[in-house]
Amino acid sequence: MSATYWNPEARGWRSDRLAGVIAFHRSLPGYAATRSVDAPALAAELGVGRVVVKEESARLGLPAFKILGAAYAISRALSAGFGSPDRALPLDELRAAVADAGGRPVRLVAATDGNHGRAVAHTARLLGLPAQIWFPDTLSAEAKQAIADEGAETVELAIPYDDVVHAATTSAQDAGPDAMLVQDTAWPGYEEIPQWIVDGYSTLFEEADAQLTELGVTDLDLVAVPVGVGSLAQAAVRHYRSGVGAPIVLSVEASAAPPIIESLHRGEPVSVPTSVTVMSGLNCGTVSGNAWPILHAGLDAAVTVDEDAAIRAVHDLEALDIDSGPCGAATLAGVRTLLADDRSRAALGPDSTVLLLSTEGRLANPLPAGR
Ligand SMILES: Cc1ncc(COP(=O)(O)O)c(C=O)c1O
Repeated sequence: MSATYWNPEARGWRSDRLAGVIAFHRSLPGYAATRSVDAPALAAELGVGRVVVKEESARLGLPAFKILGAAYAISRALSAGFGSPDRALPLDELRAAVADAGGRPVRLVAATDGNHGRAVAHTARLLGLPAQIWFPDTLSAEAKQAIADEGAETVELAIPYDDVVHAATTSAQDAGPDAMLVQDTAWPGYEEIPQWIVDGYSTLFEEADAQLTELGVTDLDLVAVPVGVGSLAQAAVRHYRSGVGAPIVLSVEASAAPPIIESLHRGEPVSVPTSVTVMSGLNCGTVSGNAWPILHAGLDAAVTVDEDAAIRAVHDLEALDIDSGPCGAATLAGVRTLLADDRSRAALGPDSTVLLLSTEGRLANPLPAGR
């Protein structure tokens, strides 16, 4: 387990604010804000005033938040070809434009550790486009089946996630204009679509702001974000560094796959070897190139959590009627780790409010039998 990382300068860093993406999401069939749940039992345990859990177990028909990014990015990219270079067309308009265009439909290609690929496959189905989704063989049987059930062609490889991304990218490049790579991580020369994915995640934070206000919260003190390649954390840092009052933004990685905390400790991006984890969605070895400068400047703290801590958090949340898979529950485990490590540094007390992003439900990524 890596030592807790702190950046005392991060709260002073400022970012621009993105607006308007939520209007696109409202055009999607079945859009509704996911719930934010007040959890007084967790507040008592953590010794803070309030803990609110943003529960992403039912998001636009899928059990994880990822569709926010995939649907927005795919729609932005395709809309440009139909006379709308600066705005994602509403989904029904886009679907009609795709159908009218005739010719060979573009295939959407993505590598995934579960939720992103399912979201790309789902969006492809809504738009009437083919999808090809690549994943490592370590994905749970349920996650593999869910991707196939969306009608996608699947490619399973016995290699780590980072290598699957590479294989899918090469294949999409070889296919030329017949394929469009939709990856939720950026590298030099591939930045636009991953940035739109990050932009798509802004809806989650817009909703959370409104829900916290409804709950009577005026100051947020800490937000915990589960982290794989860091795109969601990038969206969190941008959001929470763009207004007045800035909560601590805490990244929580799996001990089995900790590229961000290792990179932050070293002060430069490094890839790390990864091993299998119940937190499948966090099983990535390399930080997104778009995320790195934002996290380096604006992320306050980073921790890792091990398998037992994440599994315990799944069950603790379940006991409170909060549906959280291991990636989502990792944030509870992460705050527990942070406070156990150095409570005074986080300066949280009875007046503080903590927001936990629970980014998937149990169905997205079921625990192994008996855990
Ligand atoms: C459920 C869940 N939570 C969190 C993450 C982490 O997001 P990112 O890879 O943008 O850091 C993922 C990524 O796949 C995920 O599936």
